[in-house]
Amino acid sequence: MFDALSRQPDDALLALIGLYNQDSRPGKVDLGVGVYRDEAGRTPVFRAVKAAERLLLESQDSKAYIGLEGDTLYLERLWNLVGGAAGRRVVAAGVQTPGGSGALRLAADLLLRGGCRRILVGTPTWPNHVGIFGAAGLTVSSHPFFDAAGQTVLFDRMVEALEAAGPGDAALLHGSCHNPTGAPLSADQWAVLAATLEKRGVLPLVDLAYQGFGRGLEEDAAGLRHLIAAVPETLVAVSSSKSFGLYRERTGAIFAVSASADAAALARSNLMALARTSYSMPPDHGAAVVRTILGDEALTRDWREELEGMRARIVGLRRALAAGLAPVWPALSAIEGQEGMFSLLPLTEAEVLRLRAEHAIYMPTSGRINIAGLKTADVAEVVARFAALR
Ligand SMILES: Cc1ncc(COP(=O)(O)O)c(C=O)c1O
Repeated sequence: MFDALSRQPDDALLALIGLYNQDSRPGKVDLGVGVYRDEAGRTPVFRAVKAAERLLLESQDSKAYIGLEGDTLYLERLWNLVGGAAGRRVVAAGVQTPGGSGALRLAADLLLRGGCRRILVGTPTWPNHVGIFGAAGLTVSSHPFFDAAGQTVLFDRMVEALEAAGPGDAALLHGSCHNPTGAPLSADQWAVLAATLEKRGVLPLVDLAYQGFGRGLEEDAAGLRHLIAAVPETLVAVSSSKSFGLYRERTGAIFAVSASADAAALARSNLMALARTSYSMPPDHGAAVVRTILGDEALTRDWREELEGMRARIVGLRRALAAGLAPVWPALSAIEGQEGMFSLLPLTEAEVLRLRAEHAIYMPTSGRINIAGLKTADVAEVVARFAALR
């Protein structure tokens, strides 16, 4: 049977890592990677994570299963972080998942169980959104979200798509730090989205994968907090991969949010049943680490401080990149006002390949760059190479 299978294309981003690693040129620059990097090019383990791991090593006395729901204290503390005060005025039934990806997949499975057949997704988006929703069996309906040449959000087009949708449809929203564009939505735009979703009876699925990397922990959840207060039901997929640097520990959660405790509990029982026939129980370690950090004031303070340092580094790099590029490429001054790790440059595939071949600057052919892949010392060179394309 195996012979009858067709070869699948390599994941473009993973293939890019291989190409970058094989390049022996000094001064090569990796803007393709999807993880945070520090000034030395490392993806560090947070100090608070190390401290929590030491505590867990001493205190953990069993490796028995943690149950379908996962770590309930992790879920409670994570929801406090995500929902803030608004989160206490609704009921959020959470299930711990293997990463944000696992949360998105369970959300898609739940949507199908609940009779939803279609999900609206802005273009461009993280490619795996389309992959995950399609693999679950949802019809993915794309609408324009961003114009890379002008670096503008096509908000009217987004609202137009939602206006044409109705009950039985879901809509994917990025909580903040949009991947791949970095384009922020204003508070007014979130209010319009919430009102439109409510009016049309469309169920929002919010993907929150970068809380703390944009404007701050509270600010990055503000749109989502407005939304959960304005619509009857929301699904929130949270990833702890970036915010806690736990990428390989596969740590995330899906929250079914409702004003009704009964409705939320129903959603949770179905999420757990769906998990049972998929991966069954989630891995323990990452969630135990987050639970330990968020349950300890000193660890929380240290984690926040380190996260804020990462955010500040990205903000500084954005400012330098925008200042360098704006004189030759005015639209790219928008990079400064964008948020999170990613921005989307209006480059052709040929230009991306030329940067790679001639200057050892690596990014996917979409033109997405990870700002955190830059070292401060690289900025001038990268600006010069981008500017030379214009
Ligand atoms: C927008 C977005 N959502 C979700 C995820 C899922 O992250 P993970 O499954 O690693 O937690 C990512 C990871 O890159 C992402 O960029």
